[in-house]
Amino acid sequence: MSRIEAPHDEVTGNLLDRLLSGLPAEAVLTDPHVTASYANDMASFCPAGSPAVVVLPRTVEQVQHVLRIATELRVPVVPQGARTGLSGGANASDGCIVLSLTKMDRILEISPVDRIAVVEPGVINAALSRAVGEHGLYYPPDPSSWEMCTIGGNIGTASGGLCCVKYGVTAEYVLGLDVVLADGRLMSTGRRTAKGVAGYDLTRLFVGSEGSLGIVVRAILALKPKPPEQLVLAAEFASGAAACDAVCRIMAGGHVPSLLELMDRTTVKAVNDLAHMGLPESTEALLLAAFDTPDPAADLAAVGALCEAAGATQVVPADDVAESELLLKARRLSLTALEAVKGTTMIDDVCVPRSRLGDMLEGVERIAQKHRLTIGVVAHAGDGNTHPTVCFDAQDPDESRRARESFDEIMALGLELGGTITGEHGVGVLKKEWLAREIGPVGVEMQQAVKTAFDPLGILNPGKLF
Ligand code: LAC
Ligand code: ZN
Repeated sequence: MSRIEAPHDEVTGNLLDRLLSGLPAEAVLTDPHVTASYANDMASFCPAGSPAVVVLPRTVEQVQHVLRIATELRVPVVPQGARTGLSGGANASDGCIVLSLTKMDRILEISPVDRIAVVEPGVINAALSRAVGEHGLYYPPDPSSWEMCTIGGNIGTASGGLCCVKYGVTAEYVLGLDVVLADGRLMSTGRRTAKGVAGYDLTRLFVGSEGSLGIVVRAILALKPKPPEQLVLAAEFASGAAACDAVCRIMAGGHVPSLLELMDRTTVKAVNDLAHMGLPESTEALLLAAFDTPDPAADLAAVGALCEAAGATQVVPADDVAESELLLKARRLSLTALEAVKGTTMIDDVCVPRSRLGDMLEGVERIAQKHRLTIGVVAHAGDGNTHPTVCFDAQDPDESRRARESFDEIMALGLELGGTITGEHGVGVLKKEWLAREIGPVGVEMQQAVKTAFDPLGILNPGKLF
């Protein structure tokens, strides 16, 4: 009876029956309380729908099964990793299949000779780092969420992290992929060799495609030899401008720090309030520089001198690796700490040419004053990648409106300065209009043509990017 009166349930019932024909029952979650918990990633202000079902496949064949059913029944599929994303790229759409890859978490191979790892998408970033470390190898990309986020998610969002100033971003480490296409076919891209230029670089195309072109089920990742432990220096500045001047001097001087991060006064205070780290609160900008070179103390001394030349009020090299780790821990806590300031944050991810970093900071300050808002800035300063983080009370409609406006103004400023609206978090649903503004109508048209080639029915993560 109810089936006849509720066509939606009939559709869902059919979908479930079909999914269960190729998946074990425990891999198919339908309890609405449970499925609702898969609706969002960690971004604010991003709409999310209710999934019809969450599936947790363990094999490539099971993923293929899910995609075949999705194509046949025209049901949207939203792939997810650990949902630590910051742009709503993993948010569910109504009636979708959430395809969580978290159970596909095996490291299949680590080869010190070829300097590669072959992994499933659900492997946690830190687990991979530790596993390859045992072989004297290093997987550099290290988002702040590295203890939670998955390699599949890192590939989907083309994520970065703290070490990118020296080692580059995820895209530079993905050599090849196995991808399940929208219709369930399996495609291999790329290579496991040190070189390879056969055909279009579809591997690179998939990195940052936010689950809109296919489902990554296996990745061949490049590894580096493990460098020495890094030593960190903390430099305090009386203004953001002076700290940015130091960044420019360091980079122009040919130095290659393994990390060059900036935390402004608001961020430093927030971290102290949250975790009592004893960071210097009187400073306007704290710069962290690190070297993992054979003689890090010498490199830190050289960079310390440049910081002083730029007007640093204090330059304090860490005594040892443990103290360095503590400083990094403080940095990684920044966003959690800023969230505690007013309960909610909107995290911008604007990347500008590093020569314009000072203008960016100054502009953010102006925007904060104009909108009477607290905006903490934490930045991968060496990359020019800033995270101006608007702290606001989501219960206060006026403050929420001002937060959204300032968030948009910060992106406009980034574009004006020759930057991009996202250095490492992706577009998701949060920055859709901004992608169009950055790449223009021709760019959008060509990107949509690519999307259509891979996903003619539009079932893969619909409503994201465009
Ligand atoms: C960070 C994340 C937000 O830099 O990208 O901490
Ligand atoms: Zn970041």
